[in-house]
Amino acid sequence: MRVIAIDGPAGSGKSTVARALAKRLGLQYLDTGAMYRAVTFAVLRSGGDPGDPDVASRIARSIDLRVGLDEVTVDGVDATLEIRGPEVTRAVSEVAANPAVRSELVSRQREWARERGGGVLEGRDIGTVVFPDAELKVYLTADPAERARRRAKEVTDLDYETVAADLARRDALDSNRSADPMVEAGDAVVLDTTGLGIDGVVARVVSLLTDTSDDTNENADA
Ligand code: DC
Repeated sequence: MRVIAIDGPAGSGKSTVARALAKRLGLQYLDTGAMYRAVTFAVLRSGGDPGDPDVASRIARSIDLRVGLDEVTVDGVDATLEIRGPEVTRAVSEVAANPAVRSELVSRQREWARERGGGVLEGRDIGTVVFPDAELKVYLTADPAERARRRAKEVTDLDYETVAADLARRDALDSNRSADPMVEAGDAVVLDTTGLGIDGVVARVVSLLTDTSDDTNENADA
């Protein structure tokens, strides 16, 4: 099973790099942040309090969750846009700090990869918790102001200051929680993507793979 772990904070370039890498290597891609967002969406939709640990864990265990390349559905409802909206973004760190939610989603992530013979998974704890034996672990970082600029470009209805404040708040919550905090694995390759184009980052990650593996086709179609 071939697993590549891409971790790092919001706006570090994880999604763009992980998607490009998966395409390049012919592997499937999983955005695990979308899973935490989908559980948060389901809690809010049920009228529950995201801070109530029992509600969030019960919902995490019972929902039918499908995270595709471009579409997320929760119990058959298309949640692709809502999971990126301000309500979910505000509440997601609290849900992601819940150990019972984490253990349920971590087992779903492992099952997802097992069923597909591996994949490129992006998140906060892929290299430390979900797949500590991943073939390659990359931890992406970038200057906070640049991360906020990238996120502000993606969300059209919020200004830069609001996005920057939200990123700083989520960074602190995600890094300081007791259950599986966001931290680079000891054996992860740390790449600072500030000022780097996507092609440069993908090329660097592919070169890390070709350094460590014989069966990688460097000339695979991008
Ligand atoms: O990458 P993102 O912003 O969509 O992630 C949403 C939230 O989920 C973020 O606050 C951190 C959390 N998360 C996590 O705790 N573990 C993961 N593997 C992925 C995301």
